[in-house]
Amino acid sequence: MDERIVTNEVLGEDTFETSIRPDSIDEYIGQSEAKENLTIFMKAAKMRKEPLDHVLLYGPPGLGKTTLAYIIANEMGGNIKTASGPSIEKPGDLAAVLSTLEPGDILFIDEIHRMPRYIEEILYPAMEDFMLDIMIGNDASSRNIKIELPPFTLVGATTRAGDLSDPLRDRFGIVLKLEFYNTEELTSIVQRTSRVLEAPIEDQAAIELARRSRGTPRIANRLFKRVRDFALVMGDGVINKEIASMSLDRLKVDKLGLDNTDYHILKSIIEQFNGGPVGIDALAASIGEERGTLEDVYEPYLLQNGLLKRTSRGRMVTEKAYEHLGIEKK
Ligand code: ADE
Repeated sequence: MDERIVTNEVLGEDTFETSIRPDSIDEYIGQSEAKENLTIFMKAAKMRKEPLDHVLLYGPPGLGKTTLAYIIANEMGGNIKTASGPSIEKPGDLAAVLSTLEPGDILFIDEIHRMPRYIEEILYPAMEDFMLDIMIGNDASSRNIKIELPPFTLVGATTRAGDLSDPLRDRFGIVLKLEFYNTEELTSIVQRTSRVLEAPIEDQAAIELARRSRGTPRIANRLFKRVRDFALVMGDGVINKEIASMSLDRLKVDKLGLDNTDYHILKSIIEQFNGGPVGIDALAASIGEERGTLEDVYEPYLLQNGLLKRTSRGRMVTEKAYEHLGIEKK
């Protein structure tokens, strides 16, 4: 398989995401705290004619970490090189990426928490002193070589800041936490997507779509595409509230934005574990999902919405979950 470490190429679903991605920080909706701070740090770096300090973005998937990395590159006027934690398997993979860097470049490493620890260590001098320090060969003739790197900015993204080693986390001068979006912000994102794609949506329909997108722009934009299909085939192309509600029902996205897997999780805790507490591994096994997916993708929204609680003995569903599912508590 041709698995390239560095790629500027995006295909399929990503092409869609790229086409609707804002290019400037001003167009980026929501995340006001992260956005305002980042704007100041970028301005200051430009005034000093220095690269931006290394940035760590963390938060649940789909909230716009990649989008922000591209915006940083645009705003700072550098090229972006991208890699992902799992694609960096050997020290040489990371060295290959680092050696392509030019002054002012942005190196975006997605899922940076999945990079092996011993490879992380190559990043320390690269981040701190712009120095690549690696061992060549693995026998008696092996030696260390040091290569100077151009000044660059590492933008790391992770769904779990807690999974990064302390030394790596400490080397990011800027740490930004992304939060779920509120309905108003997601409505603006949906309306922006509608303008970019030239697919009209009525205000009430945009609000409905926003409410049912679990606080996540990636989900809002994916649902937008499907709702647009229903409007085109079953209506006159304009997405109104009725079409939006009907299509979302058909897509099995409920009023809170919960999907089949969310239901599966909540029902499993109620029916098989009597409402909890249940350990994350037992829960993952019972619903046939990976523990990591459960923790990164599903849990954050259920916790945020007060449907699930984390206790020292495990996960428990809340009263609200029983009510939302229409199940009586035994
Ligand atoms: N697309 C994804 N995230 C976005 C955001 N925060 N603002 C505008 N468009 C987006």
